[in-house]
Amino acid sequence: MARVQVTRRMHFSAAHRLFRADWTDERNGEVFGDCANPLWHGHNYEIDVTVEGEIDPDTGYVMDLKQLKDLVQRRVIDDVDHRNLNEQVDWMDGLNPTTENLVVAIWDRLSDAMPSGVELRKIILWETPRNYVEYTGGA
Ligand code: NI
Repeated sequence: MARVQVTRRMHFSAAHRLFRADWTDERNGEVFGDCANPLWHGHNYEIDVTVEGEIDPDTGYVMDLKQLKDLVQRRVIDDVDHRNLNEQVDWMDGLNPTTENLVVAIWDRLSDAMPSGVELRKIILWETPRNYVEYTGGA
């Protein structure tokens, strides 16, 4: 049976500040640039969630994309959309909210919630139309 990857793209907007509390403002500014602004700033994120599995002969689907959409909405988007990633998202507690840290945390929110026979394969997280990170799980 053919294994196929299917992807759902979702969107959220969130505020953050990249910084380390144990560094001076000057050093944070040097390393994180505009993203170290102490009074926050926001991004319009796009997220592509790709799952893989065999085509179900009954439905012709790998996974109903409505089901994938609802899962990402419930486990991720509802928590982060129009929120402050530093202060309001408990599963980002203690993490500098870079796109890298965010994609790994999102992976952990989704990977154990997949229906049987369906595998989370890849997440692409766009912070801007020009900057994105990819994660496929693992160390
Ligand atoms: Ni930023």
